[in-house]
Amino acid sequence: MSLLLSSVVVVASLFSGAAAINNGLAITPPMGWNNWNAFGCDVSENLLLTTSTQISSLGLREVGYDYVVLDDCWQDPKGRDKHGKLQPDLAKFPNGLKPISDQLHSQNFKFGMYSSAGEMTCARFEGSLDHEVDDANSFADFGVDMLKYDSCYHMGRVGTPSVSFNRFKTMSDALKATGKNILLNLCNWGEDLVHTWGMSISNSWRITGDIYDSFSRPDDLCACNTLEPGAVNCVAPGTHCSVLFILNKVAPFADRSIPGGWSDLDMLEVGQGGMTDEEYKAHFALWAALKSPLFLGNDLRDMPASALTIINNPAIIALSQDPHGRSVTRVRRDTEGIAKDEWGMGETHVWAGHLQNGDEAVILLNAGGEDIEMSVRLAEIFIPYGPGGSAPHVKYDWAIHDLWAHRMPQETAEALLAAKEVEDRVDILKKANWYNATELPYAKGLAKEDARLFGEKIGIAEAGGVLKADVKSHAARVFRLRRVKKEGDNFNAKSIARKGEERDEL
Ligand code: GLA
Repeated sequence: MSLLLSSVVVVASLFSGAAAINNGLAITPPMGWNNWNAFGCDVSENLLLTTSTQISSLGLREVGYDYVVLDDCWQDPKGRDKHGKLQPDLAKFPNGLKPISDQLHSQNFKFGMYSSAGEMTCARFEGSLDHEVDDANSFADFGVDMLKYDSCYHMGRVGTPSVSFNRFKTMSDALKATGKNILLNLCNWGEDLVHTWGMSISNSWRITGDIYDSFSRPDDLCACNTLEPGAVNCVAPGTHCSVLFILNKVAPFADRSIPGGWSDLDMLEVGQGGMTDEEYKAHFALWAALKSPLFLGNDLRDMPASALTIINNPAIIALSQDPHGRSVTRVRRDTEGIAKDEWGMGETHVWAGHLQNGDEAVILLNAGGEDIEMSVRLAEIFIPYGPGGSAPHVKYDWAIHDLWAHRMPQETAEALLAAKEVEDRVDILKKANWYNATELPYAKGLAKEDARLFGEKIGIAEAGGVLKADVKSHAARVFRLRRVKKEGDNFNAKSIARKGEERDEL
């Protein structure tokens, strides 16, 4: 009997779609907030706790943001203590770190911290290279649930996938040995083909230098900026990477993300002020559909209402948290005949991907300088299931749902931000019937066809036909295509998974 049971368990875990690291974490992309983009080194206990309170009362935890991550610069500038242990800077964290993690846990958040697989962190505090076991134990003692693990000052231990792999694996093993299940977020900016090995030892891995608050502006500080899209292995540390650059960098390996292990496109810039509303919407929706971890990067205590209505859109977040757990991929990129923008960039993309219930996410991105009508044939959207119009999907009509249609009204968001009392905020969210993923997880909401996750039906793309939409300059239209069932329908659910994704259909 027990033998039978254990073989059932083994079979179940083989087919559960678990990632190679297999720590059961990040089965959908992790979501939360990280201080770095807005605050850099200006970190403190007060910042973390006032932010977590704000995430809670604005209903952002309820749409999924449940990690609060302290990035670099938390360490004592004097270095390690006499036992070789990392110490927090007591001027910033007078009570140490454990009380912060306790407080976050009591608010149902998870606590993330930062170190580097180098002799120093990127901001030149103590790094964890050759101190992995000590530091992993410290993180466990602090009550940490996630470690962002950077790659600055690596002492030359870089240059081949196995050298980088081994350097990061030492921390992965040390975390495991603590006995605490700690999510590991690697941050080596795409070096040494991390997208081919990151999933074996971590739950996510950064694929570029640091994002900055610009949609398309190229900058010399973003290494690899001059490379043609498709060049995956350029030496990558750097900053000032635009949204468009990051999209072009991930495109050739967008399909590498799997449940438990995700390509990290870097923290979000929504709400920081450097992009237009349409640019931020495009940035957010693509990060969601590409299954990047979704870490808010703005000051949530001082945020425009328009930013709140982007980051709290459950129909977009449902793309990120879809149980199928596969990224959209780019089925089309055009540069010919596309007007250039102010930075001399001009291109359009079509991204598409399968969702658990058989719907298809489709994003039309206009990264050119003029508003245009974009069109794409169903045969192209469904290319991953069979080229040349051979995918069975092409023979069906598809209802087009616009996933931005039910964005929270500006007035509601303004009222929410203006409300001083938590109870008033709770009331406003209740009246707005806002989505609460802690009560109804996305997988369940999707299975129950909760209307708040499906946007608004705006038309039909007919069998064998074309999907067309007006797309403003520097904007994206984000659709969920829903197959219109036919009389005597014999569409085979098994055939809808793409090659290599079959496992998830079992
Ligand atoms: C690197 C990382 C950033 C941030 C800083 C902190 O640049 O890529 O995300 O963590 O270090 O110093």
